[in-house]
Amino acid sequence: MKITIFYLLLVLISLPLLALSVETKVYIVYFGEHDGKKTLHEIENTHHSYLNSVKESHEDAKSSLLYSYKNSINGFAAKLTPDEASKLSKMKEVVSVIPSHGKYRSQTTRSWDFVGLNDHSWNRAQMGDDLLLNAQYGKNQIIGVVDSGVWPESASFSDVGMDPVPKTWKGICQEGVAFNKSHCNRKIIGARYYVKGFYNVFGAVNPSEDYLSPRDADGHGTHTASTATGRQVPNAAALGGIAIGIASGGAPMARLAIYKACWAMPGKPKSDGNTCMDEDVLAAIDDAIGDGVDILSLSLGFNEHSPLDQDVIAIGSLHAATKNILTVCSAGNGGPSPASLANIAPWVITVAASGIDRQFSSPVLLGNGMKIQGYSISPYAMSQMYPLVYARDVARLGVPQYLATQCQPDTLDSYKVNGKIVLCFIGQGRNVDKGIEVSKAGGVGLILANNQDNGNTIFYDSHFIFATGVGYDGAVTILQYIYSTAYPTARILPVQSVSYTPAPFMAGYSSRGPNHVDAHFLKPDITAPGLQILAAWSEASSPTKLPYDRRSTKFNLYSGTSMSCPHVSGVAALLRAVHPNWSLSAIKSALMTTASVTDNLNNPIQDYTGNPATPFVFGSGHFQPIKASDPGLVYDISYDDYLHYLCTINPGLLNKVNAKINCPNQLASPLNLNYPSFVIPNLYGPVTVTRTVTNVFDGQSRYEFSWNLPQGVSILVSPTVLVFDHVGQSFSFTMTIFPANDYSVRNQYVFGWYMWSDGRHLVRSPFAVFLP
Ligand SMILES: *[C@@H]1O[C@H](CO)[C@@H](O)[C@H](O)[C@H]1NC(C)=O
Ligand SMILES: *[C@@H]1O[C@H](CO)[C@@H](O)[C@H](O)[C@H]1NC(C)=O
Repeated sequence: MKITIFYLLLVLISLPLLALSVETKVYIVYFGEHDGKKTLHEIENTHHSYLNSVKESHEDAKSSLLYSYKNSINGFAAKLTPDEASKLSKMKEVVSVIPSHGKYRSQTTRSWDFVGLNDHSWNRAQMGDDLLLNAQYGKNQIIGVVDSGVWPESASFSDVGMDPVPKTWKGICQEGVAFNKSHCNRKIIGARYYVKGFYNVFGAVNPSEDYLSPRDADGHGTHTASTATGRQVPNAAALGGIAIGIASGGAPMARLAIYKACWAMPGKPKSDGNTCMDEDVLAAIDDAIGDGVDILSLSLGFNEHSPLDQDVIAIGSLHAATKNILTVCSAGNGGPSPASLANIAPWVITVAASGIDRQFSSPVLLGNGMKIQGYSISPYAMSQMYPLVYARDVARLGVPQYLATQCQPDTLDSYKVNGKIVLCFIGQGRNVDKGIEVSKAGGVGLILANNQDNGNTIFYDSHFIFATGVGYDGAVTILQYIYSTAYPTARILPVQSVSYTPAPFMAGYSSRGPNHVDAHFLKPDITAPGLQILAAWSEASSPTKLPYDRRSTKFNLYSGTSMSCPHVSGVAALLRAVHPNWSLSAIKSALMTTASVTDNLNNPIQDYTGNPATPFVFGSGHFQPIKASDPGLVYDISYDDYLHYLCTINPGLLNKVNAKINCPNQLASPLNLNYPSFVIPNLYGPVTVTRTVTNVFDGQSRYEFSWNLPQGVSILVSPTVLVFDHVGQSFSFTMTIFPANDYSVRNQYVFGWYMWSDGRHLVRSPFAVFLP
């Protein structure tokens, strides 16, 4: 019963690999950093010589190589037998040998037609014109997006009024099917594609399914790219003739570099999602680093619990960090299960998804005059009352009731449904298909009800008939009404944009902590809008991506942490523009310590259940761009600090990644990394956490420490006052956390926060403690 909610856009599951040859499989052989002494040619030769050393012949070695990573990442991807892979993994210079995973990016049911409501009101209201102006709308920033490509004709990627391409830019405009140099401009300054890994498993890209070029056949890549950097597009025309407001990316004047590494699944409808192979993604990241992007936006993630040296996004983003490139990643759509996070490396910013204050209301009017709150983006308006039935009561003969309850295909009796509105429950199968079943049986409208697990978080779907979604409580009321009268009737009222409270609220599908790879880091880091986000779309796709959907749209509403990630990418670009000499960790810290943990009713941000959400759901809170531009203090982390962190995983690892740096004598704890939050995975006795804050506010300031402790924990802090007199000044402080003499809270995580404040800035950090 609790199936559909998990299918949101970016649940990535391993794909059984259908290797062409039985013996070989693609492996990524990773060497860490370059020593800086070799030319690109020499690096490639070195990679060949490693391959030669395990392969039968030179020819064999040559034909087995897919990629030689040489810009920043040092490694290669090649077809190897398990035996060859094992030989290579024993070589002293090799950090890790990673079997390639097929990443199946499911993007099933949750897409919506756009209707014309200015759902980017968050942009102007929360970002403010000042930040946009100070950052010059991000005009000197380059955001690299690794995704399914781009639809370059979209108005979101117009380069009107933009300056020439920066001279330092080293990227290219790679030509291919339906994509030539004219498709790059001053907005889309680079475009490349990576298909060798995909080809090795699935064969040639089918021209009727995808373009062998940077062009997007899916919509996902166009959507994420325009959410990060799309131009402001007023009054786009809408399906159903409903006018829309302004669609705009976070940094509308930033440049875009497209790296297509995700492809349509052969023989599958687009709604099944697309596939991004490890080796293709890593090649994209390596090129993006070499090309000179400032921010990497990765709305993809692999819900596998791989250690960091086996995780290509962790490796790629670590190399990006050598160039001070901030990598922004989606947290995944594996919620509400705990420990469902993707992209947990401490050097990336991991973004959860929340709903915003604008919703599309379409209530149900019942025959007894009661109005049940419903939400929809259906462009159709129902003008009269119709008879109302519950799907379970109108099942075809012989069909189990539970299947009919969910309006599964061929379950409804057209004699009993004809001319009526049908109440169906969410469950197995796509929501849009439930509307189609009702329509096939002659029904006139669909009320799609959440089951108890989904609570009152409504999904908007691009239905083909009159439809609205109601929460579980509403569904119960409707059922009571149906059984209270001989002739139940209803009408689905027209869609209106309403301002919604409380907001933000956490989406049920947003992946949750604890961090299953290193429990000391509180992940996700932050949350941003990821529910019904309006952005540009591929005209080669359809709003639902279902095979029978022939509609096309220039803009589409879409949901998932894929959508929240580029919101943060865009804002990070603005922050970089305003603070060009900040480190990636300073930008990340600024975003985290200024995030909000309350909603627009001033209550704690709620989870999809209506209960307060914890930092394992929203991290430090909902991002606040204006505040992030003036955080007061930052928790800075250098690249070497990140490398030292590797010592805590495996002391041998660091020397392999970078031979010039050694592990500190005292065996480090992950808690020593100067992260803007922390987790103590097991509080048996006192644990001391040291942190260093750096002043980034121009002027004298005196900060005082305050905290909010959970039950079962006590704390000792020193010092509790810090006085700064210049920018760049740093002070350390220690927090010693003790188990309190309180045995009522046991065997669970508890959450608290601490904060430095000078009265003007609030520098807030969450923490979690497991009380054994
Ligand atoms: C590039 O594509 C554009 C638009 O499809 C087309 O008009 C133009 O002729 C193409 N240019 C070349 C050199 O093929
Ligand atoms: C940034 O540059 C300013 C001015 O050159 C300097 O005062 C400040 O310390 C720098 N900040 C950081 C975080 O490096």
